[in-house]
Amino acid sequence: MGLLDGRVAIVTGAGGGIGRATALLLSREGAKVVVNDVGGARDGSGQSVSPAEAVAGEIRAAGGEGVASSDSVATRAGAERIVASAVEHFGRLDVMINNAGILRDKTLLKMDDAMWDAVIAVHLTGSFLCTQAAAAQMRQQGSPGSIVNTTSVSGMLGNFGQANYSAAKAGIYGLTRTASIELQRHGIRVNAVAPIAKTRMTEDLPMFEKIQSMTAEHVAPAHLFLASELSGDLTGAVLSVAGGKLSVYKVVESAGKFKDADQGVWSAQEIADYWEVISKV
Ligand code: NAI
Repeated sequence: MGLLDGRVAIVTGAGGGIGRATALLLSREGAKVVVNDVGGARDGSGQSVSPAEAVAGEIRAAGGEGVASSDSVATRAGAERIVASAVEHFGRLDVMINNAGILRDKTLLKMDDAMWDAVIAVHLTGSFLCTQAAAAQMRQQGSPGSIVNTTSVSGMLGNFGQANYSAAKAGIYGLTRTASIELQRHGIRVNAVAPIAKTRMTEDLPMFEKIQSMTAEHVAPAHLFLASELSGDLTGAVLSVAGGKLSVYKVVESAGKFKDADQGVWSAQEIADYWEVISKV
């Protein structure tokens, strides 16, 4: 008995890295998997069907059911074809893992429009389009579904040199929250994972020269947890995975300080004077 027996899953960006590890694990747990990957370089240039086909081949070689898709998540037509591929091959869709991503790092003052647009298109627009297409299919089926997006410490907290990426990943947090609220009535849960793992995206970061213990295989079980009934009715959560460390990101509001209406509005000087009290969590 697998945790996803009879289920159909799509994993975007599954030609390598975290997506590949997740596609293989979901398949081992009984899911039929659409392995989507545009097969380009880390910066999003180029394309090839080979990475998606290789992973779909690994799934089939292990006795599972996997098909490759090389459509881009970043266009409406691509996102709709990815979901249509699940329906065409396996008849339905239960799990959507929005994992595809690219990097074009540059400091804010040096970032050009193309760097900004490409990263927003794949991460944020891609997550929106695939979430929408998946949710429409799940609603039409009238069955529960699970959508898992991918945010990042960069999006939740910010990171030097990643204005485009952190804006996209923070946008994915907002998308996840709103989609989780809107889709709850259709039984569709929407959560996010914030991973840290050594993949081609991060392998040249200095921290990974020493650390070998944060792998894509550490992240895949978090996807499985959120995709399966093990996570119950959990929705709108952000699960962080960094090797053996699991935690949850939450946006918190401080307790705040109140000024009665008859005392007038806060002046800028008063905000400065009370900043510590206002901002204390
Ligand atoms: P990766 O580069 O190995 O995997 C990303 C995959 O997405 C690639 O195979 C790429 O071809 C594919 N892709 C790119 N554009 C696409 C498009 N338009 N349509 C379909 N597929 C496309 O990198 P990794 O690390 O496995 O990244 C997976 C996700 O995790 C990404 O969303 C990334 O931003 C996120 N992430 C990874 C972290 C890490 O430490 N590795 C940290 C925080 C977030």
